[in-house]
Amino acid sequence: MTDLVTVTDDGPVRTVRMNRPDKKNALTLQMYDIMAEAIEDAGKITGLRCLLLAGSRAGFCAGNDIGDFVKMAGGGEGLGAPILRFLYALALCERPVVAAVCGNAVGVGTTMLLHCDHVVAGSDARFATPFVGLGLVPEAASSLLAPRLMGHARAFSLLVMGRPIGAEEAKTAGLVNTVVAPDAVEAEAMQAARDIAALPPQGVVVSRRLMRGTLDEIVARIDEEAAAFKTRLQSPEARAAFQAFMTRKK
Ligand code: COA
Repeated sequence: MTDLVTVTDDGPVRTVRMNRPDKKNALTLQMYDIMAEAIEDAGKITGLRCLLLAGSRAGFCAGNDIGDFVKMAGGGEGLGAPILRFLYALALCERPVVAAVCGNAVGVGTTMLLHCDHVVAGSDARFATPFVGLGLVPEAASSLLAPRLMGHARAFSLLVMGRPIGAEEAKTAGLVNTVVAPDAVEAEAMQAARDIAALPPQGVVVSRRLMRGTLDEIVARIDEEAAAFKTRLQSPEARAAFQAFMTRKK
């Protein structure tokens, strides 16, 4: 079976690539666990200085696997442990994180980018967080980080109204650094990761720590959102939205 996530070390850069193109890189619990492990582990390897999160040309990430949401809702559970493990790993990661985004970045595919330090997007990138329309609430501390980054009104449009934004709008909002042709995304992101990795490592780690401020607030928000998410997962609106997606006709 193909690896659903591949982890490749190339000198000082570790690439964590979501690799489920037939499902547009919708994340399963197993995928979250592998990604969390790769991020946690990178912090223990001295020679690794930068992480690169990538998807494929089929899309960056279609968000959480909706089938898994149905299982979690049916089991009376909240966000599964692997999801929280991934979110904590990303929030607490000491290595800088670059992302290479082509095509759709939906749900956690967008909210994980709020934890990244440098995002390269293809001109075909589309960012969407349809949480509320699915009967859910935002996660990954996005309710804290998105308004902080782009201001309340833009964050409300994205997170609550569920209005997607394109690459240029995401750049104006501060979510994306560089927009390039889709074919150039990977090379541009790898170059940025190598540039970061070539800097004095302690200078990068300490500067980044200073810029990000206290992480307690971010972790507390991940937990607060997870509690609300658990309640919303059981809601009739969420169940109906999941059912509609699972049985939709194309
Ligand atoms: N969970 C489970 N399966 C998903 C999925 C998800 N989040 N996103 C896509 N898929 C599956 C589709 O069901 C389809 O499977 P099939 O080929 O067996 O029918 C396959 O991936 C391809 O998706 P498709 O919708 O045909 O691709 P597209 O290019 O037309 O659209 C998206 C891509 C991402 C815009 C669309 O798939 C989508 O909106 N997905 C749901 C996103 C979402 O709501 N995520 C949760 C956020 S909280």
